[in-house]
Amino acid sequence: MKNGYIGLIITSVMIALFSGCGSDFEDSDRRTSVQSDEGTVACVENYYKQAIEFDLSKCVSCHTAGGQAGSTPLVLLDLTEANSHDNFLTLHSYIKATGTRIIQKNDGTLSHAGGSLFTSTDVGIYTTFINYANDSTTCVDSSISVVEIPLSSVSVVSPEAMARNASLVILGETPTATELTNASSNLDAYLDTLLKEDDFYDWLKLRFNDVFLTDRYNRSSDGINLMDSNEFPQRRWYYGSRNNRNMLGETNTSARDKKYRRVNSKTNYGVARAPLELIAHVVREEKPFGEILTADYIMMNPYSSRTYGVELNGFTLQDEDDDELDKFSKDNFKELKIPGVPHAGLLTDIMFLNRFPTTATNRNRHRSAKVQLFFLDTDILGLADRPINASEGDAGIHNPTSNNADCTVCHFVMDPIAGAMQKVFLHEQHEQSILKEL
Ligand code: HEC
Ligand code: HEC
Repeated sequence: MKNGYIGLIITSVMIALFSGCGSDFEDSDRRTSVQSDEGTVACVENYYKQAIEFDLSKCVSCHTAGGQAGSTPLVLLDLTEANSHDNFLTLHSYIKATGTRIIQKNDGTLSHAGGSLFTSTDVGIYTTFINYANDSTTCVDSSISVVEIPLSSVSVVSPEAMARNASLVILGETPTATELTNASSNLDAYLDTLLKEDDFYDWLKLRFNDVFLTDRYNRSSDGINLMDSNEFPQRRWYYGSRNNRNMLGETNTSARDKKYRRVNSKTNYGVARAPLELIAHVVREEKPFGEILTADYIMMNPYSSRTYGVELNGFTLQDEDDDELDKFSKDNFKELKIPGVPHAGLLTDIMFLNRFPTTATNRNRHRSAKVQLFFLDTDILGLADRPINASEGDAGIHNPTSNNADCTVCHFVMDPIAGAMQKVFLHEQHEQSILKEL
């Protein structure tokens, strides 16, 4: 494993968001100057802020400098308050120069690499905006009715009700009368106590498992079985060697089988739960949450640590009977490293990578799409509709995922990360076998 790959993943995550593509526009096509009648513009700008600005979040992933649409005349800045006015000017001047083109690009009239993103409501809103932008005599303030919800109509639940809700969600039980009294005088302190309960961490892991689905491997030997026996020759460390199967030291076969199953289950638990334990650990230790993707360690319990070829707390098989000691419990997870191997949190987690596998027909695209969905707020499948008949209009386009706009709309966002996730594995030896596969 080369250190560079992990860095590359992180960097590519950034690059992917800013990858550019060619275009037929000349610089001279870029922004025309905006109308300077401040009074009128201010009115139109109100409409922009109320009706348009928020929805531009659908567009900025591509329509930014360096984005896929970075070389079109419609290049926006991040949608922050500070950029609001500049973005308005950009859109306003684009509309002054091109009329209804923005609608046509998004209602299916003209082809658009970003897809048909406007609903009929959007078409209505943009039509109004274009009319306002073109008719400098109309002041929009008077013509739109915005129903403001006064803050006074919003009521906040009482601290007692809040405490009860929180306790039901986190602990699954209602607070006692004393706890309610405490919560009513200091809600924050009460919530803090909830967040220290083991139940909270169970709840947290449950929720994240709903996303990562890695508990699927938390049964029998399912997690261990995913580990490459060349990479991890010790994955079944308790099984013994060819010449000495009875590492467990039991002469009675039924006692031995029982012990085998017990140790196997605790080891598999350690392996399979590593990703969820990482999340709980990062939260418990109040580390920056991004560490779930950057942690240069794996969470291991005393049993799984042996699987990775590391020892935790000097744990040996003889200690197994002592597992009532916290030190040797299967739930005693610690940060440990596989020597000489760089880790990047979930991105290099064996369970995570197996749950979202690369195959001969997705070639890391699936992983890339999932990484973006989970961590980059980008739903690749939502970027566009894949053409039903891919060969239609595609005839003769060489390498469509790079050259056909019907495909690049997703693939330009997805492929750089897929490329970086190629060959994410641990040892050199494994690299060779993966290279052969892909
Ligand atoms: C996935 C990337 C992507 C997204 C998301 C996207 N676009 Fe585009 N858009 C492009 C690309 C690439 C082009 C240039 C190629 C083309 O015209 O199809 C473009 C072109 C355009 C053009 C034509 C520019 C010109 O004058 O040539 C308009 C207008 C436009 N987009 C508006 C929008 C709006 C509004 C949204 C959001 C509702 C949006 N786009 C979302 C990628 C995207
Ligand atoms: C809506 C987004 C989207 C569009 C549009 C799209 N793809 Fe994909 N493509 C994906 C995703 C997501 C995957 C990964 C599939 C998975 O999760 O297993 C993928 C995977 C692939 C793969 C397998 C991986 C590889 O690169 O060898 C090919 C081939 C492919 N797409 C070709 C195309 C072609 C050709 C087009 C255009 C006609 C196209 N795609 C349009 C989202 C898209």
